[in-house]
Amino acid sequence: MSFEIKGKVALISGGGSGIGLRCAKELLRNGLKGVTLAEVNKDAGQKAVKELQDEFGPNKVVFVQTDVTNMQNYEEAFKKTIEIFKNLDILINNAGIANDHTFDREIDVNVKGVVHGVLLGLENYIPKYKSGPEGVIVNISSVAGTTPFCMMPIYTGTKFAVLGMTKAFGDEAHHKRTKIRVLALCPGVTQTPLMAGVYSSTLGPAYQKLFEEQVGDFPSQDTESVALAMIKIVKNAKTGTAWIAEGGQDPYEFVLPPRESFAPK
Ligand SMILES: NC(=O)c1ccc[n+]([C@@H]2O[C@H](COP(=O)([O-])OP(=O)(O)OC[C@H]3O[C@@H](n4cnc5c(N)ncnc54)[C@H](O)[C@@H]3O)[C@@H](O)[C@H]2O)c1
Repeated sequence: MSFEIKGKVALISGGGSGIGLRCAKELLRNGLKGVTLAEVNKDAGQKAVKELQDEFGPNKVVFVQTDVTNMQNYEEAFKKTIEIFKNLDILINNAGIANDHTFDREIDVNVKGVVHGVLLGLENYIPKYKSGPEGVIVNISSVAGTTPFCMMPIYTGTKFAVLGMTKAFGDEAHHKRTKIRVLALCPGVTQTPLMAGVYSSTLGPAYQKLFEEQVGDFPSQDTESVALAMIKIVKNAKTGTAWIAEGGQDPYEFVLPPRESFAPK
């Protein structure tokens, strides 16, 4: 049976821009009761709240200025969600940056931020406060988390980490215990502020050259396509699965072959 979004509560990290903001919009269009935007950028957060309130009314959206790299700080967004909406059913670990030049921060946001979110969501807030029989966590990886991008090797590593964690936290053993599905969504190139800044955020000229040579090979899409893919997997995908949303196509599952299939016979 498909997961019912109507009446549920969601928390979206990095919800002030791009894919996160669009996901908030699509969830609200599907009847979500409330959403918290856990966003580090105050201007973006406030602007996003206004945009969503203009479309959906004053009581469904909250902005909590949050830095996901700090677990206590991230937890404040969970606490505020419960205080205001009483429940939490859906977590989208979306906050991310693409900047191999400042790789400490990139690893902190893209990897530790997701660790913090999953631990808070899976082991504490969603099991305690879900309003229905099941909860869902969607971790935003990337096509760069399934296929190496040589122009952004460190970003690639962070997104492979998100995929690996999703597979492990999403194992049926955890689902049985928590009743929470953990999924990965792996978008292709998507028109957002992140993508606009990525060219100047590589490790240096050799990487920029690769970027120039290869970026045209990737189909581009708008944020709506990613958000619609997110809705589909939230409703129907099995725990531990990863989904590619690229070029505006319907999402399709990315399956890791079992390592035994490569072993000599
Ligand atoms: N745009 C693409 O082509 C693309 C492709 C694949 C995956 N992704 C992933 O999608 C996610 C969203 O990216 P986007 O393209 O919408 O970018 P974006 O820059 O439009 O949005 C990301 C948001 O995250 C916020 N953020 C950054 N660091 C944060 C932190 N420490 N705590 C809380 N919020 C923080 C930013 O302020 C921003 O509002 C990222 O994880 C990104 O890696 C993007």
